Amino acid sequence: MSQALKGVRILDFTHVQSGPTCTQLLAWFGADCIKVERPGVGDITRGQLVDVPGADSLYFTMLNSNKRSITLDTKNKKGMEVLERLIKECDVMVENFAPGAMDRMGLTWERVHELNPRMIYASVKGFGPGPYEECKVYENVAQCTGGAASTTGFLGGPPLVTGAQIGDSGTGLHLALGIVAALYQRNTSGKGQRVTCAMQDGVLNLCRVKLRDQQRLEKGPLTEYSQYGENIPFGEAVPRAGNDSGGGQPGWILKCKGWETDPDAYIYFITQAPVWNEICDVIGEPTWKTDPDYATPKARLPRLKAIFARIEEWTMSKTKLEAMDILNEFDIPCGPILSMKEIAEDQSLRATGTVVEVDHPKRGKYLTVGNPIKMSDSPADVKRSPLLGEHTDEVLRDLLGYSVDEIAMLKQIGATAPVKKPAAAE
Ligand code: COA
Repeated sequence: MSQALKGVRILDFTHVQSGPTCTQLLAWFGADCIKVERPGVGDITRGQLVDVPGADSLYFTMLNSNKRSITLDTKNKKGMEVLERLIKECDVMVENFAPGAMDRMGLTWERVHELNPRMIYASVKGFGPGPYEECKVYENVAQCTGGAASTTGFLGGPPLVTGAQIGDSGTGLHLALGIVAALYQRNTSGKGQRVTCAMQDGVLNLCRVKLRDQQRLEKGPLTEYSQYGENIPFGEAVPRAGNDSGGGQPGWILKCKGWETDPDAYIYFITQAPVWNEICDVIGEPTWKTDPDYATPKARLPRLKAIFARIEEWTMSKTKLEAMDILNEFDIPCGPILSMKEIAEDQSLRATGTVVEVDHPKRGKYLTVGNPIKMSDSPADVKRSPLLGEHTDEVLRDLLGYSVDEIAMLKQIGATAPVKKPAAAE
């Protein structure tokens, strides 16, 4: 079977997480993704958080599946010549270097567009134009500046970052969508275009419900936040909401059987209004169905803490999975807190290809994520990440037409391999 992006060639100049997430996604859709790395060094994540000495780290392997790797020193004149030839052969160039790095290399948008007018040139940066545009940015900086951290955590506690990599992987996803849209537009315009996504903007896009609440706050208290029911006054900005649901249906995380010893023995429980009667029956409070203090969502708002405490008495008598089975029978929305161990061992996620095991020549078998986007006509067969420079010769020969001698010369002068230092005199 073919794949959605078969025939699209990506010049992948990305590193660390945000850019590599984007290009990995495009590679899963079938694009030929050629990752350009510095000779002898490569993407810095190859050597970060190493768990198997001498092998690429999981940090790298889990972000660079289905790609080819070539090594090229772009600060070497011949290396830059190779890169310019690659630019002419590719459809999309993706990078996420610090602001100004590509311009210093001489690869401004104008230059790239001149070399290949059909090229889509995509970048991740920390911030868009403005006071912070020159700043380097990592995941948690984006979570803090995009509005996520100030609204995460418990009331009275410090701001909190989340485990979901909404700054890096989230922005990579946004950028991938921009690239696919630009490829679509190129079908009619015949031209490439510049696609940029700032991590601050990507995080804010994911936190839009909090910007919604900021505007609602100006008109009065946020009644669905549990602090409202507890009579705690609101300040000027959207507060941290603990485990409040963030929507119109109140929810909270509740203890389940075994919570004393298992840190993940919890369940997210939503008191969705249409199933209130069922909730009352399940927890053994049938009179709450008609009691005016409990019967309507509005009446319940000031009592949420007590209501969840009563529901928790019930959830504590069940394991999180037993509770889920019972609640789902009545269409009561809930979610057990699954640990990463449980997710890694979950056979249903293996069956759908959301978690896959691949084999690597240096590290052996490892688990990685598969494409979360399932397409009926574009299967994503996850392949291991490439070794550093594994495909340099192949790409130079097959794509750019270099001869064996020319390939050897490029190595010798340090354009595609680290320059060998002369052996020290005895
Ligand atoms: N050959 C030679 N030099 C190369 C090269 C190659 N193949 N590939 C990269 N380089 C050089 C660049 O030319 C640049 O050098 P210069 O600064 O002398 O011009 C340098 O490597 C790139 O470095 P930089 O991007 O500054 O890396 P860093 O490790 O200092 O910073 C980040 C890392 C992530 C903070 C930074 O890249 C950044 O802010 N990126 C944008 C936001 C982003 O994506 N952040 C999330 C990362 S998960």
